[in-house]
Order: sequence, then structure tokens, then C-alpha cells
Amino acid sequence: MIQRYVYGSMIETDTIPVKPEAGKEPLPGFTVDEKEHSFTYLLGKEDRIYGLGENVRGINKRGWIYQSWASDNPDHLEDAVSLYAAHNFLVVDGEERFGLFLDYGGKVTYDIGYTEMNRLTIRVNDFNLDVYRISGDSVLSIVHQFREMIGRSYIPPRWAFGFGQSRWGYVCEADVRQVVRKHRELGLPLDSVYLDIDYMDSYKDFTVNQERFPDLAGLASEMAGQGVHLVPIIDAAIKKEEGYPVSDEGIRKGYFCTDKDGKPFEGAVWPGISLFPDVLNPEVRKWFGSLYKVLLDMGIEGFWNDMNEPSIFYTEASLEAIRTRLMDTVGATPDVNTFFELTGIIREVFQKDEIYDSIYHHVNGKAIRHTDVHNLYGYNMTRAAAEAFETLAKDRRILLFSRSSCIGMHRFGGTWMGDNKSWWSHLALNFRMLPSLNMCGFLYTGADLGGFGSDVTEDLLMRWLELGIFTPLMRNHSALGTREQEAYRFSDLDGFRHVLRMRYVLLPYLYSEYMKAALDNKMLFRPLAFDYPEDHRAQETEDQLMLGDSLMIAPVMQQNARGRMVYLPESMKLFRFSKDGRVLETVLGPGDHYVECELSDVIFFLRPDHLIPVSFGGSCVAEVDFDHVHFLTYPAGNEACYEYYTDDGISRQAAGMRILYRMGEDGEVKALPQ
Ligand code: GLC
Repeated sequence: MIQRYVYGSMIETDTIPVKPEAGKEPLPGFTVDEKEHSFTYLLGKEDRIYGLGENVRGINKRGWIYQSWASDNPDHLEDAVSLYAAHNFLVVDGEERFGLFLDYGGKVTYDIGYTEMNRLTIRVNDFNLDVYRISGDSVLSIVHQFREMIGRSYIPPRWAFGFGQSRWGYVCEADVRQVVRKHRELGLPLDSVYLDIDYMDSYKDFTVNQERFPDLAGLASEMAGQGVHLVPIIDAAIKKEEGYPVSDEGIRKGYFCTDKDGKPFEGAVWPGISLFPDVLNPEVRKWFGSLYKVLLDMGIEGFWNDMNEPSIFYTEASLEAIRTRLMDTVGATPDVNTFFELTGIIREVFQKDEIYDSIYHHVNGKAIRHTDVHNLYGYNMTRAAAEAFETLAKDRRILLFSRSSCIGMHRFGGTWMGDNKSWWSHLALNFRMLPSLNMCGFLYTGADLGGFGSDVTEDLLMRWLELGIFTPLMRNHSALGTREQEAYRFSDLDGFRHVLRMRYVLLPYLYSEYMKAALDNKMLFRPLAFDYPEDHRAQETEDQLMLGDSLMIAPVMQQNARGRMVYLPESMKLFRFSKDGRVLETVLGPGDHYVECELSDVIFFLRPDHLIPVSFGGSCVAEVDFDHVHFLTYPAGNEACYEYYTDDGISRQAAGMRILYRMGEDGEVKALPQ
């Protein structure tokens, strides 16, 4: 059951397509303090808190303070409080069980047992919001009801489930061709190459650098011939430059966010001083979305929307203020204090929250301070593109994912987890985000595999790809200046080939489960606690996840480990695929097991009386045979069935077939007549 509670008068977010009627009675269980703008709930000793989508720390969020405040935070450590997205849904599971969603575009702070271990305090910037309380007899039923209310998750084209290679540093056509040639020559599967900001002319959106990419349309079609899609980046900010049509038209029509005096707000991002499309305004969304046409017309079928928190490095005023402060230190005693003051001043310039206070949106003739709707920006940028694709690409799905998001955007695109580092701790963090993101509707997601910042090591990349073969978005991406991290740069080519190929072997299952999760509003990745709610060990397991109906994954996330402990809440069959072609199948009983997993081994666990449809693989998704699948099986005494979803992988309606397969007593798996 879902109950809506109204406080003040919220700024519309368009998160919930059809809102339930608001109730009059107070929000049960919470002390609401209108002056403090806070909601407080006393936590029971055993209560666990799940959700908050993309954020730091564990699957159980208890014991830290978090913020919904979209932030460009490439160096995040364990003490960060917010990342690139802002997802306001959580579930309390314990003495009571309920979900809570805050429909609100400004800053929210969740003190989940940080200030006081038994207190959950949620604080908002101003008290104009709608709160939804969802009750149900299991966490999964609460999440399901929530997902039904917020609408169906985004469905990408099927090729977007193939492996993508990316790097900030592919600067010309030759770089792209080299990636594809290497993959094809070495038998490393590949479906997409991503174009980072260098394909543009001076980082201007919707332009192409003619020297380095003289014929992007030609390149796209050449790549298509090899089964590869090009996926260019689009940044939120528009370079301010006379003669650049997007800048000129936007200024002329008043399509950019303004300062308090109504003049276009100017802030610096990659192109230098830039303007910010006012995507909260429907007319601007229409305009901004229509700009993607120029790339669609060149044969481009996928985009990643970036820097849309929006990230603002500095304004001329903020830079000037820092300069003045630096000048003030001239002549000061050159001692340790001066040293720390100077380094502090420099660090402060980046991404100052106060900048957001000086930006205004204009919607229906009303000015709205950016701070009050900050978390809605990435959502609306991505929505602009998605809404335009509904007419520009009527019959086909376009790949679209965004760095920043809030709930609502899940209907329009996927999200990647933003800039991470080539750290083992970030591999584990990205793993734990998967179920939390699914709770909030984000199914098409994944991390920069191998890590974006810092130098990767061969073993970290291998282990990260071993997780990546299970995440819908499977992309290796790295930053300019870091060690090159394409699989072919390293020595164990057989290992990388094997790991990448396993993705394509598993694709019939992964795509089928993705589609069922999207169409039926279910989670793809679930913590063990959700599937085995009575099992205390399952409740504490944060390094294993259920994936779809049949699978459990338990990746190795520790350097130099040749295996790991795995907890089985019930008997399961371990599959281990090794690069020399060996496949181990062993049934393990419930409890703890040490499972060996050499560096390039792929392991997963199949539930009893479940099936996994697999293919013989391919070098790209188009080569995978989704029509003639075979099955991995674990018969354990009961009927084993699998509902297999398949479609053409491209049409928007996603009106595919669901075929029921059953395993007979002879061990044969057959499709039941429709
Ligand atoms: C941002 C993005 C990253 C991209 C870089 C350059 O940091 O998160 O993925 O490579 O900008 O465009």
C-alpha cells in the first residue's frame, strides 16, 4: 500500500506519472519537525536500511550520513556523503517494514544512525515536498510497488549489452580504428567504442572536429560493417562563443539558465566559459533534444550524457575571489601555516556549492533558484534527449545513459556510476551499488570497468571485467593520463578473451532477465537478504548478489586472492569456466565454502531447480543466437522451468515473446507449446 503525505507546496519534479491521493493523517512512526525541516524515526536494534541508489558505503546503509546532492566527486573516499546522482528512496526493514520516497529536487540529508546510532533523521533544505510511505510484507513487494508507481525502467537496444571500449584519449579516427582492429584480430568481442570529448570541435556539443574526425558518418558506417557502434559523449554545458549556432540560438531565445538579474549564467567546464541549457523548461528540453539529430543523422545510435550535475569548475567571480585571496598571502611568512592555507585555497575553487545559489531556472514564467532543484538537472537533460528520440528515432531504441540522475530519469535512460578509481575498494563499492540502484528503477547501469582515475593493474582489470560480464552496461573506461587499460595492453590475452566471451555466452540469460525486470518492475540484482529474509547470514552478506531468477554471483574483489569464501543460503551448483575450456560443475550444500577462482576464471552459482539459457557466444551481439539457446541446469528433485524473454532487440515496443522452458525427467529442456 502506498500513502502520500504533502508538506508545503513542492516544486514539480515529474517523477511520478500518476500521483496517488494525499492522505490527511500524519506520517506514521516519524516525528516531523517543520521548523527543523526534519523527519525522525527511532531505529530498532535489528533494523536495516536499504536504498539511496548511487551512494557510498554498504548495501545496508546504517551507520553513516548521506546526502542527495548530485556532485562531481572523482576522488571519493569512504567519507564522501554523495556521488553523482541523488536517489531519494529507502526501505526500513526490521521491527517495522516500509519504504520511503521523498519527491523533492533539493538537498536531502540522511543521518542513518550517524549522530545517534538508533536514530534516522532525514532533513531537507526547505519544507516543500511530498513523502510517500510504502508498506508491504517483504522488501521486494515494497520495491515492486514503488517501481510500479514511478513507471517502467529504460530499455536500451540489445547491442548495448555487448562489451564497450572507451577511453578519454581516443582523439582521432585512427584511434577508434585501432581499438576495433585489435579486438577483431585478437578475437576479443566488442560492440561499441565510445567517443569522449575530443571528437568535438573545441568541446562544443553537436559539433565534430573536422581535422581529427573528417567523416564521422563514414566512420560510423564503416564500424557498423564490423558490428561496432560509436557512442559519443554529450556534455551539459554549451560553450559560449559567438558564431556557434547552439550558443547564439540559445542566447537569442532565452534558453539558458540565468543569474539573478536575468542574464545568462556563465560557468566554466571543459570548453571554458559556458552556458547551461534550462532543461527544466519544457520548451528548452524540446530544443536541446532536437540538437541530437545532427549525430543521429550520421548514423549514431547511442549517447552518454555527462557533466550534468551540473558540474561547474568555477565562475569568473569565484576564480577571481581565489586569486585575490592568494594575492593576500604574498608577503606572509613562508611557513607551514601558509603552506596549508595556500593548498586549501586552491582546493576550494572546484565545485563550490554557493555557485548554485546564483543560478536560476525559468519555468512557466516563474524563476526557480537552482539550489532548490539541483538534483533534477541531469534527469531533465537526459529526458530532453529521450523525448526527442521518440520522434527522431520512432521505431528504434537509442542507447542513452547519464552521469547524474534522480528517480524519474530511470524511465528515460540508464546511468553509469561516474568517475571511480582503479582501486579494489571502488570495485567493491560499485558492486554494492547495483541493488540500491535497481531499487530506484535504474537497471541499465555499470561502472567504469578497470577504474577511471589512477593506474590499473592487470589483475584488477581482469577481476573487474569478471564482475562486468554480469552488469547490463559493460564498459572499460579510463581517464586521460592514466595507464592505458584496453584488454589487449596486457599479457594474459587468453584470459581476457575468455572473460569477454563469457559475457556473450551468458547474454540470452542476461538480456532475458533484464527485460523481465524492466517490464515487470522487478530488481535484477538483489541482496541475499531480500531473497532469504529469514537467514541472518544472508542479511549480512554484502559481497554476493542474486542476479535474476536463477543466479547468484560472488566475484573475487581482493588482490592476489585465488578464490574466496562464499556463503550459500541453500544448496547451489557452482559453475567455474576456465580459459583452457574446462568447465567445473559442483553441487555445494548450504553454508560456507572456500571456492577457488584463478585470475581469469568465471564463477557463478545456480539455484536448485533453475535453468540458465546460454549461447555459443559471438564476437558481437549480432552474432549471438538468441533463438536457439541451450541450458545450464541444476535439477534437484522439483520441476525446473525457465521463462525466456526474447525480442528483436531494437524496436521500442519491446513486445517480445515469453517462452516457457521445462526440463523433462530425461534431462532434456524443451519449450512448452505457447
Ligand atoms: C568526466 C566523465 C568521464 C569523461 C571525462 C572527460 O570526468 O565522468 O567519464 O571521460 O569527463 O569527458
